[in-house]
Amino acid sequence: MKKYLSVFLVTGLLLAVLRSSDAAEETPEPERDPVTGMIIAEDWELARNNCIVCHSPQQFLRQRGNRSTWQHIVDWMQKDHGLLWLVDPVIEDKIVTYLTRNYAPEEGKYRRAPIAATLLPPNPYVSQAKKEYEEKKAKGLIPVEKAP
Ligand code: HEC
Repeated sequence: MKKYLSVFLVTGLLLAVLRSSDAAEETPEPERDPVTGMIIAEDWELARNNCIVCHSPQQFLRQRGNRSTWQHIVDWMQKDHGLLWLVDPVIEDKIVTYLTRNYAPEEGKYRRAPIAATLLPPNPYVSQAKKEYEEKKAKGLIPVEKAP
């Protein structure tokens, strides 16, 4: 029994390795800066200099977006998070362009949109959960939300 299990595991491992090397051939890995992990491409230093002052580059490297998303994020950093020194629109545009080109939404990597409620089977726990909620509420066990 144990023998079968290890054969099974080794086969699985082998398949996983083969699959990952296939994927690597399809999309050549871009060159990355060893310190920040950022893709080395036009104007990457501008993005680095301005965007890793307050947080790790992971804050934006794991993000994907089109131009409008990235512009939105940079505006948000300027308005609400203290990125006050980025006032030159030319430099700002270069940073947004770098992010848009190198961190665009990837084909096939979108999250699936949620399935419409009307297409889902009825949730059998819904009435039970509601009953429990009402009982707890009646006993004062549900904290009342206060407006911020
Ligand atoms: C002056 C400080 C500061 C600078 C400079 C800065 N950020 Fe941020 N950033 C923050 C803070 C604070 C947060 C956490 C915001 C939160 O989660 O509410 C954040 C969060 C983020 C996030 C995560 C947002 C999310 O969805 O959780 C992204 C993406 C981001 N920053 C991108 C950038 C980019 C791109 C730049 C460069 C143009 C930049 N930041 C420069 C302060 C800064």
